[in-house]
Amino acid sequence: MAFESFGTMRVNEVGHLEIGGVDTLKLAQKYGTPLYVYDVALIKERARGFKKTFEELGVKAQVAYASKAFSTVAIYQLMHEEGLSLDVVSGGELFTAMKADFPAERIHFHGNNKTRQELEMAIDYGIGCVVIDNFYEIELLADVLQEKGARMAVLIRVTPGIEAHTHDYILTGQDDSKFGFGLTNGQAEEAIRRVMANEAFQLIGLHCHIGSQIFETTGFKLAAHRIMEQLVVWRDSLDFHAEVLNLGGGFGVRYTADDQPLPPSEYVRAIIADVREVAQDNALAMPEIWIEPGRSLVGEAGTTLYTIGSRKEVPEIRKFVAVDGGMSDNIRPSLYEAKYDAVIASRPLEEPDETVAIAGKCCESGDMLIWDLPLPKSDAGEVLAVFCTGAYGYSMANNYNRIPRAAVVFVENGEDRLVVQRESYENLVQLDLPLY
Ligand code: LLP
Repeated sequence: MAFESFGTMRVNEVGHLEIGGVDTLKLAQKYGTPLYVYDVALIKERARGFKKTFEELGVKAQVAYASKAFSTVAIYQLMHEEGLSLDVVSGGELFTAMKADFPAERIHFHGNNKTRQELEMAIDYGIGCVVIDNFYEIELLADVLQEKGARMAVLIRVTPGIEAHTHDYILTGQDDSKFGFGLTNGQAEEAIRRVMANEAFQLIGLHCHIGSQIFETTGFKLAAHRIMEQLVVWRDSLDFHAEVLNLGGGFGVRYTADDQPLPPSEYVRAIIADVREVAQDNALAMPEIWIEPGRSLVGEAGTTLYTIGSRKEVPEIRKFVAVDGGMSDNIRPSLYEAKYDAVIASRPLEEPDETVAIAGKCCESGDMLIWDLPLPKSDAGEVLAVFCTGAYGYSMANNYNRIPRAAVVFVENGEDRLVVQRESYENLVQLDLPLY
């Protein structure tokens, strides 16, 4: 294939792009565009791949889907079916998970400013653990637990001071971060002391997340190493024994041919090697390892279908080809200068004969999906398929310009299943209250 395909993607007998055994042109016709299409088999393959790697390594583990990447009832049900745990970061994600009947005890709650109401919700639902992020939260959670006469298993989120190689905006593991307790400045130790001193908490371990869309193992290894060495110190000085070490997510995916992520299993193997080494060298019990992949579970499985509309040629400068979506369904190019690849769904193998810029339809010059895309000459009405939009596309979708949010369809084994309906104009105004 001339383009780099993902999962079950192929060019079918009539030359169209097919995903999950379903012709994408048929999907566009049936459900309209923009449309997020998810390759269920690829999501399952990724989920199973992570789990299998831990099994092969003989390491007790939990793979928690970082659901901020794509949060809907259907994906929670799928992840439950695959035996994954879940990372939620808000009452909204938690509520959606409960609607999907996700087992509460396998839900971990993150966030740097969980509200009292969200913490109450977490306790009432009986979730598995809260990842404590800051001193304020220690007080707040202790207070809510005391009020309810409850106890809660907690992890403490630490920032190990590692710089991951990725876009600055999505760095979370370095010292100057709004997340977690600094490992090097003494705050993590102070947090552990306070949490251990409070009966309402059951401190089960530590958490760290060094960043996102990472292509190397170095950062993960460094972070794991540093935290493990610190655990040796705290075992001896604080009598703190971490049962769990959660090393977050951040494993990279291939948005374009320039991206060269490692197979997911390699990140896991690299991390485990370091954890094991420090554990063995120091006679430290091997903690259970938790990871939280988001993007690497759902990113490459998602493809967005758009219908091509207007065309504007600026002589000798640029050819703009506009589609019926944009920053309302994928804000990543505008927000992070993220790059994407795309093909015309009816003729994905055709040689390009021009370089075009794919523009969104929003009233903002920065609403561009792809700046330089080699493409065969396209016509209005044709379907453009943009690859690798499964993570942080739908979940960051918005109603700028009152554009209704797109529908989501799952495809597998020749079947398509609508899992999120397209927002209607009526939906858009349903919360508005008239003034007169
Ligand atoms: N765990 C924690 C604590 C996180 O903060 C994140 C992502 C993850 C896991 C999952 O990371 P992943 O495996 O998906 O890379 N909106 C940005 C990404 C923000 C990521 C925030 N945290 C984007 O569109 O690239």
